[in-house]
Amino acid sequence: MCGIIGYSGHRPAVPVIMEGLRRLEYRGYDSSGVCFVRNRELQVIRAEGKLNNLEDKLADMDISLATAGLGHTRWATHGAPTENNAHPHVSFTRNLAIVHNGIIENYREWKDFLLDKGYLFFSETDTEVLANLIADEQAGGLSLLRAFAAALEKASGTYAVALLSTEEPDTIYAARHSAPLLIGAGAGEHFAASDIPAFLPYTRDVVFLEDGEIARITPLRAEVFSMADLKPVPKTLTRIEWDLQAAQKGGYKHFMLKEIFEQPRVVADCIAGRADTKRNAVRMPELEGFPVPSRLRIAACGTSWHAGLWAQSLMEGWSGIPTTVETASEFRYRNALPVPGECLLVISQSGETADTLAALRLVKEQGIATLGICNVIGSSIAREADAVVLTQAGPEISVASTKAMTAQMTVLMLTALYWGRKRGSLDREITARALAELSDIPARLTGLLPTLESEAAGLAARFAACKSMFFLGRGQSFPLALEGALKVKELSYIHAEGYASGEMKHGPIALIDPCFPSFFLMPYDAHFAKTMSNLEEVAARKGPVVALTNPPKDGMELRVGESWLLPEAWGPLCAFFMLPALQLFSYKAAAFLGKDVDQPRNLAKSVTVE
Ligand code: M6R
Repeated sequence: MCGIIGYSGHRPAVPVIMEGLRRLEYRGYDSSGVCFVRNRELQVIRAEGKLNNLEDKLADMDISLATAGLGHTRWATHGAPTENNAHPHVSFTRNLAIVHNGIIENYREWKDFLLDKGYLFFSETDTEVLANLIADEQAGGLSLLRAFAAALEKASGTYAVALLSTEEPDTIYAARHSAPLLIGAGAGEHFAASDIPAFLPYTRDVVFLEDGEIARITPLRAEVFSMADLKPVPKTLTRIEWDLQAAQKGGYKHFMLKEIFEQPRVVADCIAGRADTKRNAVRMPELEGFPVPSRLRIAACGTSWHAGLWAQSLMEGWSGIPTTVETASEFRYRNALPVPGECLLVISQSGETADTLAALRLVKEQGIATLGICNVIGSSIAREADAVVLTQAGPEISVASTKAMTAQMTVLMLTALYWGRKRGSLDREITARALAELSDIPARLTGLLPTLESEAAGLAARFAACKSMFFLGRGQSFPLALEGALKVKELSYIHAEGYASGEMKHGPIALIDPCFPSFFLMPYDAHFAKTMSNLEEVAARKGPVVALTNPPKDGMELRVGESWLLPEAWGPLCAFFMLPALQLFSYKAAAFLGKDVDQPRNLAKSVTVE
């Protein structure tokens, strides 16, 4: 989704803003722009496409004197991704400019109101309506702060918005409602941004804005007010411990590849302090005091939903808790009946996904306990859930989620063990085996990844020309099949479908022909023999088949087709090898086809609209 950065300080603002926008590129965008005040005049420069186009436009301008300004990368919602619709948007009646992430749902109503009053519009955006609404409040005699608050009170929908005006050229105003925005507090400079990497070279001290708050930043101060009555709100600084290195490519060609290779470290970080193999115990301080649910509902989107599906059988089998898993985008449309003692578990890398957040809020209103599994400290879900377990994956920059899912699976597995032990439904032997095997994963995966990478490259080169492919699995391999297909779709734009292997003969098998390959995920588990039959059914219809499976043993081996051999792992842990293999296959296919791996077309990293 759109990226915002606002700066007020002692440095030339535009280079700082452009650098910040580069670090927000991962969010996905199709146009960009900056604004600043020069010689008391508002300068707004915008460009279609990538940031290089904006840089070209700025190259001939004198930007050195501006020490405050705004920058924006736009992911189009209202209106095509043209220069005209790019942000910042200006109200010329008061010389103010705003940048915005989100959707003002009632903008048509306010646009008609403003048109009747003679305001002019030059774009198709909801954002320009908000800019003029602020100007209109000012025209009614309000100060900039009050006008900003009054206009936002009239806007419904989601927003993170930042404002600059020639009337207060060193001041940035910023506010949020269900979209991320935070303040960076440096020495003699302050920032407002959608995400921490935007200002991390300058400060690690962050103030998290809440919905209904307005921030006013100048070089020397960051103040926060309640939008309702404009009374000051005391805030605390949070120190960010991870450094810029974690948000850079570190020698890898793409963030995605780097993040795939970080997975051994991610598993190690997620289990550190939680998996106590010596005492055969799982420590989850975040869950102490949180009631063990009698029923669990999991809601999430995309890859996080797949992690939830993967964990369902662990929650039921190990914890003994009846569990359902659904996409958060559908959750609230089916009038789910709350049940006393149940818990909604929301899973989200970003902690800002609008649908997931909406599910959380709906259930909270019903008085149901909520638990978040989330990667971003200070995100909306991390703050609003009754309890949160943070996944220590570090910043995930590539739009395609990889290490976040591995972190989610690790934490979900630990949670299932923790609840299973608390409820007395889990054998000590299973806990001991699970913790021991999980502790070995980082070292085993480190050794495996280079091999997987070269094998994935060979397979991807052979199959990248296909128009369609299936990913098929049973049991816990089914969610991984969904994930494998999602990765191929979003990165290489090849049509791919994830299916439960047993569903093939109920329709999809009609698609099989010699140009339609099927990837069967079939480790040596209880489902191997049945999935083998499904594979044979496809092979019999001349569909190319590749089985992601384990080396032959005890009479278990592939009878037909080609195999991609992965080391055997205990129980659910085979997912920790299967998932990186699928990620690397999709990565290599996209790279082979010359696609924009880290920023696939039409996608945004954090989906803050519904
Ligand atoms: O930040 P979240 O985990 O809530 O994001 C959910 C999905 O938007 C996300 O997983 C998406 O599907 C990714 N593009 C998958 O790679």
